[in-house]
Amino acid sequence: MSNKATIELDGKKYEFPVVVGTENEVAIEIKSLRADTGGLITLDPGYKNTGSCKSAITFLNGEKGILRYRGYSIEELADKASFLEVAYLLIFGELPTQEQLDKLYKDIKKESHVDEEMKKILDGFPKSAHPMGVLSSLTSALIAFNPSAVNVDSDEEMYNAIIKLLAKFPVLVAWTLRKKNGQPLDYGDSSLGYVDNILKMMFKSPHEEHYDLDPVVSSALNKLLILHADHEQNCSTSTVRIVGSSHAGLFASISAGISALWGPLHGGANQAVIEMLENIKQDGGDSKKYMGKAKDKEDPFRLMGFGHRVYKNFDPRAKIIKKSADQVLEQLGVEDPVLDIAKGLEKEALEDSYFVDRKLYPNVDFYSGIIYRALGIPTEMFTVMFALGRLPGWIAQWREMRLEKEPIGRPRQVYTGENLREFKDISKR
Ligand code: CMC
Repeated sequence: MSNKATIELDGKKYEFPVVVGTENEVAIEIKSLRADTGGLITLDPGYKNTGSCKSAITFLNGEKGILRYRGYSIEELADKASFLEVAYLLIFGELPTQEQLDKLYKDIKKESHVDEEMKKILDGFPKSAHPMGVLSSLTSALIAFNPSAVNVDSDEEMYNAIIKLLAKFPVLVAWTLRKKNGQPLDYGDSSLGYVDNILKMMFKSPHEEHYDLDPVVSSALNKLLILHADHEQNCSTSTVRIVGSSHAGLFASISAGISALWGPLHGGANQAVIEMLENIKQDGGDSKKYMGKAKDKEDPFRLMGFGHRVYKNFDPRAKIIKKSADQVLEQLGVEDPVLDIAKGLEKEALEDSYFVDRKLYPNVDFYSGIIYRALGIPTEMFTVMFALGRLPGWIAQWREMRLEKEPIGRPRQVYTGENLREFKDISKR
């Protein structure tokens, strides 16, 4: 392949270098486009063809359905690793030794208290508040209690900020749920592993002396968190990187990422899928009617959990989750009628030319809500669980962006508004 690309404009030719990644991904580097051409920019709404950075964290090939964290396949990690190992891998680049993992968790446990004053902030929210709004606000509020800016040139300061976030975030997640359920706000149990501790913090009832951990629930949650842990430059991760590029701190950047994740086209799809499946069930289970609505361009309805910006063959995470949904429901003895509706919709869509032609397949969120529900997690908390899983990815991407000293993110635009006009006095408008 040529190592230069040529753009021709008004009879003049401009050459730009071609950049090749380690998996032979190719990009035209247009850093000097505007300067070389005297003002030309590229226009790409939604960044469908725009690479915003070079990154060594996650490799994804949407045509082939490949997803790897730091070179390890998602299938192998979901099968063999713990969520905390994956967090270490994403953030620091290598799988931890036992000693490194033990140290990581020991450091996390030391930081896993949240200032009592934070409870007052939580108290200010009505019970009806959506947990994603609460989580984003609480994460932002953490800054007030940990005000020192991170000197990113100091490994130690960077490490400490990361540990604090990995330690306190699960407490905020658990408190968000407990507040919704009107339960007292507890802290963790340092005798438990990272994921088991999260489950206990979320679900231990005040009347229970012991919380009995179900290994099926624990292993299913571990897997879901790994599958959500990173996904290269998606909407929320790009948000984290762009907010961080202004040198806003780690907690502020993550709080912005949570807000971006909330939307139903991104992480909020897991909640939207279950609500859609419930609607279909209550409407008599006529999936054909809803397929018709999804295809009707006059109807705003979309088949939630279907389609993906980058996966155009299948979403490898969805494959793992679909299999896992069957197993988990069977192991827990749960029968959920919406699982059958989901499978029916998938089957119809995979045979329907509207979906086939547009390469629309079930994504990670199509079946994840069914598992979350079987684990006893309320629907409004689904996207919070996604955020919990995505946290290490956001941290890894923020760290990489700062260590690479990336410039502030600041896209340009093509202006389509009025030309210069004269101000009219209010009496003449
Ligand atoms: N139902 C019906 N039609 C769809 C759907 C859908 N779920 N998704 C895409 N299309 C159609 C769309 O109308 C368009 O048709 P046409 O070419 O005739 O105008 C075509 O497929 C391409 O869609 P697009 O909106 O241009 O694609 P995009 O890359 O901008 O959007 C998406 C990707 C994920 C936002 C979109 O597929 C969607 O809204 N899906 C439903 C929401 C969802 O499940 N989101 C979770 C994504 S996975 C979790 C995560 O990582 O964020």
